[in-house]
Amino acid sequence: MAAERPGLPTARYGYAESAEELRRRIAGPRGTGLPCVVKPVMSSSGKGQSVVRRAAEINRAWDYAVANMRGDQRRVIVEEFIDFDYEITLLTVRQRPVVGGRRLSEARRTLFVRPIGHRQERGDYQESWMPCPMKPALERRARSMARSITREIAGPDGAGIFGVEFFVRGDRVIFSELSPRPHDTGMVTMISQDLSEFDLHVRAILGLPIPTINYAPGGAASAVILADRASSRPPTYPGLDRALSLRNVQVRIFGKPTTRPYRRMGVALATAATAGAARRLAKRAAGMVSVRRA
Ligand SMILES: Nc1ncnc2c1ncn2[C@@H]1O[C@H](COP(=O)(O)OP(=O)(O)OP(=O)(O)O)[C@@H](O)[C@H]1O
Ligand SMILES: [Mg+2]
Repeated sequence: MAAERPGLPTARYGYAESAEELRRRIAGPRGTGLPCVVKPVMSSSGKGQSVVRRAAEINRAWDYAVANMRGDQRRVIVEEFIDFDYEITLLTVRQRPVVGGRRLSEARRTLFVRPIGHRQERGDYQESWMPCPMKPALERRARSMARSITREIAGPDGAGIFGVEFFVRGDRVIFSELSPRPHDTGMVTMISQDLSEFDLHVRAILGLPIPTINYAPGGAASAVILADRASSRPPTYPGLDRALSLRNVQVRIFGKPTTRPYRRMGVALATAATAGAARRLAKRAAGMVSVRRA
């Protein structure tokens, strides 16, 4: 939709419903070529997603996607692999046409949070930070793309926050995907500013005013706390007290009832003088918290 309706620049892509069709979408005319990324059309946190570097890996990527997809559609999207310099999330708030009894101009209906830099592993979120240094012209381009795609999806009256993801390579800004809701990389907003992505979402859908967002000086970051094994019981979190003894650090434990390898169980949040220092501090705090079988 992003590629076809507002015409945003994206990776070359195609859809497939069998391993043979997948092979044609990769190697056929106007195919993605190699390397490419194969993803179930319905999934989250990178589940079922894999990078194909050689033609011999296509069948395996199909099987992996089908085994890990959600829903009942045996369908994948395959995308050209973008060797990006960095990737960002632009949290984009679409407000209702009338807020607090006042009709908003079209331009004022869309608000943006500062770009969030993030790093993923195995297609899954590891850490995010703010500010993410970015040329102003590229940020403007990302904003204009985020505005057009969220308008298209929300329609005339729709409202709420979107996590709009972009790849940046040199001077190119390439649309990646979006979430029609708060985004995992946006958890950094629980510490970087007074109105978090959750506050912004609730205000937008309830038609409540959103005055300026105040950011903490310096930088902020969020880093994941992962489980390393499977257990069907709620775990304990040794080391939480050590992490909380660090200054400018907060921890959120999600209270998930079971664990499996790489399951995200919480995040450590930090502020510091720069985004780089905040990243180091958040990772240090996350590293202090372990996830143990109760
Ligand atoms: N075409 C691509 N080229 C290069 N890297 C990619 C591509 N598509 C995805 N990735 C990498 O994989 C990550 C996860 O992909 P994507 O956001 O599409 O999956 P997801 O399962 O929706 O993840 P989430 O729900 O956690 O955002 C991206 O943030 C990026 O790092
Ligand atoms: Mg994503």
